[in-house]
Amino acid sequence: MNYADIINVTENSALFSYELDSAGFAVLSIDGREYKSVEAVGTGRFAVSGLEADHTYCAELSGVKLEFTTLPAPEGEELGRFALISDPHVSLKDENRKGRFFVESGALMREALEKAAALGAEFAVIPGDVTNAGTPEEYAYCKKILDTSPLPLRLLPGNHDHPEQGEWEKCFGERRWCFQKYGYTWIGIDSSSASLTSEDAAVIRKHLDAGEKLIICSHYHFFSPPRINHKPGTGLRNLQEHQELMEILQKQHGMIYAGHQNICSCAGFGNIFQLNLPQPPQFPCEWILVRVFANGFYHQAIPVNSEVLRQWSRRSSDAAAVFYNERQWKSEYRLQSFDQSNFIWKGENK
Ligand SMILES: [Fe+2]
Repeated sequence: MNYADIINVTENSALFSYELDSAGFAVLSIDGREYKSVEAVGTGRFAVSGLEADHTYCAELSGVKLEFTTLPAPEGEELGRFALISDPHVSLKDENRKGRFFVESGALMREALEKAAALGAEFAVIPGDVTNAGTPEEYAYCKKILDTSPLPLRLLPGNHDHPEQGEWEKCFGERRWCFQKYGYTWIGIDSSSASLTSEDAAVIRKHLDAGEKLIICSHYHFFSPPRINHKPGTGLRNLQEHQELMEILQKQHGMIYAGHQNICSCAGFGNIFQLNLPQPPQFPCEWILVRVFANGFYHQAIPVNSEVLRQWSRRSSDAAAVFYNERQWKSEYRLQSFDQSNFIWKGENK
């Protein structure tokens, strides 16, 4: 059976991917328009522009029916844009694993940074698992790539980075940060130990008490989204120690950007919103571009350049899910629906 999915949708465009069972030309029909691939290679993408905002479309891509609604038109001038590139797992391994690119991880990191800069991002947040094994050799390799980044970076450590061994400080400096942008206080925390540290909790509390609107970036998520359900306790493990803070946090309108699980998921918890980010080196092989407007933050999934790589990861992840009997690698679990990574966050709710 032919495979097709929707990678991203904006207010005026949509990006489709396909992999056909056999060689042949791919055909996309949408709203009376028809697009045909130039080559009959069977794997590729269609980028459709000029769509109407806030409009539901029915498309058919080589026999697969797809329905989507474009986002509402932005209001006013764009205030800026940034990139969320999670879990690059930059590695020196010479074999890939369970659908994850290790051999290509450095190249994919470099590609994501270059593309984010080309798309006009002002900065990129990389919320952890920057390296895969946290060895000095991996840090050196990773630093070499990040030192040539064409845009400013905000890095946070993840569990794979093993920052306690000292390489993080040597290569990347601080493990946490705080700055103001777009009317929000951005707080990057060190959750590499899967815990909310008292130091980070105090910073969050201080800014909440000051009545500031927060965007928190963390490797581990705070709240367990219903979509991430392959095993319990996948987020920060000590939040019962910070119960009062969590209650205050959920009363405030804000955003949490989290890595680690890399199952695309956005959900509200009280008044705070949380986006679990995808990763470039494993299906759906994406990072997120965010455009900021007066009426909200427009999130858009940006895939790795090669659909061939993305499809290899999809097939290899599915094969691993069967071989190892580990459902977290299943492609349909990792990308449950494109609207989990393509949406407007209005500052209050989805
Ligand atoms: Fe992680």
